[in-house]
Amino acid sequence: MAHIKNKQILIGISGGIAAYKSVELVRILVRNGARVKVCMTRSACEFITPLTLQAVSGNRVHTELLDPDAEAAMGHIELARWADLILLAPATANFMAKLAHGIADDLLSSICLATAAPVHLAPAMNRLMWANQATQANYKLLQTRGFVIHGPAEGEQACGETGAGRMLEAQQLADLLAASLAEKNTAIAGKTVLITAGPTREAIDPVRFISNRSSGKMGYAVAKAAKAAGAEVILLSGPVALESPAGVKRYLVESAKEMHQKALQLARQADIFIATAAVSDYSPAHVYEQKIKKSTDTLTLQLHYNPDILFDVSHAYPDLFCVGFAAETQDLLKHAEAKLQRKKLDMIVANPVGKNKGFEKDTNQLEILWQGGHLSLPENTKEKLAIDLIQTISRVLYSE
Ligand code: CTP
Repeated sequence: MAHIKNKQILIGISGGIAAYKSVELVRILVRNGARVKVCMTRSACEFITPLTLQAVSGNRVHTELLDPDAEAAMGHIELARWADLILLAPATANFMAKLAHGIADDLLSSICLATAAPVHLAPAMNRLMWANQATQANYKLLQTRGFVIHGPAEGEQACGETGAGRMLEAQQLADLLAASLAEKNTAIAGKTVLITAGPTREAIDPVRFISNRSSGKMGYAVAKAAKAAGAEVILLSGPVALESPAGVKRYLVESAKEMHQKALQLARQADIFIATAAVSDYSPAHVYEQKIKKSTDTLTLQLHYNPDILFDVSHAYPDLFCVGFAAETQDLLKHAEAKLQRKKLDMIVANPVGKNKGFEKDTNQLEILWQGGHLSLPENTKEKLAIDLIQTISRVLYSE
């Protein structure tokens, strides 16, 4: 976390139970050499005391907008200018709504309106509050305005329910901040990165298809990490339930054949190609025009082999830096090595799938192989692994 050293980070805490995690977050940042100031909303002070944050940050905690003690009574402007980066952790549904609508009725929201620094958010709330249309609309609006949003994670919540809405853990947030402060220095900045993501759907009839369990989360995390590293990102995605990351150009396709055609076309403008998509290897030889009616007969589907997108792109564009993924249930490294050679790749990222691993999960573990190199990344969030992968690609490209 060298990139955190001497950085001026403002942690904004709004009123949610996850505020207790922010104490640990501030400790980690301070331990790694950051200068940390904390601003709390009134309701945040109901969950943890400013005194605790003062003790861990080593600085006076700011809570009031109209503070006569603050320099020239312009405390919000001073703090807004001081920060290299602002992280709102936790960011409640209410605080996100205020931010989305430019409301500045307390110190923290006024700072957010007055700053030129990047503002990151770590949302934390009950799962239904997160899923609520109003919150989702605010989330999307904030993303399009360039706010960087980390999480929320899924899991057990303080209210006893289970779902999406948990704030990421302190260490994960510290890692993400470190990466975002570092990433502008990577060799990938200014390069065009084409990423395939998600599953494909192979139609059987107008209502049925063959697909797989890919959620697209890894590919979307890679797109987000590449964008944050300063790259131009083109995301070629199969059907997923994910929003396009801010600033990324997304093309949506359904079938392997559509993805194949579009990838070959888009690769022309790319410097790096990362194939994270879980492309269906086969599609029905015949697509029924009408819905297949049920009968007691056995239904036999004949499947034809689909084109290999990665193979064709890497052979059509020999100068493109091509990165493949290898999802394997056994003999991980052996299969990955074989794919690296067969598909003529510069790098392959192997990950175990099946038995509760890989697909549909928020975490993963990766083995990255390239000519003359190997890096093992132990289990972590897909967001963090994506950042490490982008940095590894940068390093390998740079050293060539
Ligand atoms: N891939 C692709 N087009 C395909 C199949 C795979 O672009 N039709 C890409 C994937 O996006 C991934 C890599 O190739 O980057 C390896 O995919 P994987 O499914 O692991 O390998 P396959 O080549 O399909 O081999 P197998 O299914 O036999 O393991």
